Amino acid sequence: MEVTTPVLVARGLTRRLGVGAGAREVLHGVDITIEAGEFVALVGPSGSGKSTLLYLLGGLDHPDAGSVEIAGEDLARVDDDTLAKLRNRLIGFVYQFHFLLPEFSALENVLMPLWARGGGRSREDRALGLELLGRVGIAEKAGKLPRELSGGEQQRVAVARSLVNRPKLLLADEPTGNLDSANANAVYELFRELNRDLGQTILVVTHDTDWAARSDRILRLLDGRVVGDERRREERA
Ligand SMILES: Nc1ncnc2c1ncn2[C@@H]1O[C@H](COP(=O)(O)OP(=O)(O)O)[C@@H](O)[C@H]1O
Ligand SMILES: [Mg+2]
Repeated sequence: MEVTTPVLVARGLTRRLGVGAGAREVLHGVDITIEAGEFVALVGPSGSGKSTLLYLLGGLDHPDAGSVEIAGEDLARVDDDTLAKLRNRLIGFVYQFHFLLPEFSALENVLMPLWARGGGRSREDRALGLELLGRVGIAEKAGKLPRELSGGEQQRVAVARSLVNRPKLLLADEPTGNLDSANANAVYELFRELNRDLGQTILVVTHDTDWAARSDRILRLLDGRVVGDERRREERA
């Protein structure tokens, strides 16, 4: 049997936030393992620690205790410079607000993570950017500025941008929280396709029970603890 390294292994993650008398522990020792190709929904009430956990998993914040490994790389064992490079190479992020740069075109926004590494301007890179815009269904909008796009289209650009480095893990924090239901559904379908067609491993934080019900696995967070981990038994083709 083939043994593969999990895409994500988090052990004993603890995080304190706030200062002085307001300081409190927001995560109390969270363990999560995600295997390659899984499409996981992380659900829980507002304030349960979902965003805090996602920041730790994505190396955007450091835990007070515990460890995070992405594709076998221990994020705590590297210096900040290496961490930034690992993050750029291994992890894609989609936020509730798309954070597109307003004065750059859709294609330029998609290529931006490559600029950080001195790339993004070659013919090959532009072709990759266009291919990704095609995959998210808006290739014909490549030259448009963000303000010329609908909310759903802007979020599609953000999804394409998150994929430009071919990340091992795609993390999304309520990516449809800001969209109407038609656009939310389209973005959901896009994630489903990325998972099915590219084998993209995805962890998505969502309030939306529809999203959760249609993923492969549901992790439930309550008051900073994982209180549920359900896998759907449906056979994958
Ligand atoms: N910078 C901070 N300082 C103090 N408390 C914080 C900070 N950020 C988040 N919290 C608290 O941590 C808890 C978890 O927040 P968060 O991870 O944003 O939850 P969720 O994403 O599930 O809504 C909340 O009670 C929130 O008020
Ligand atoms: Mg949140």
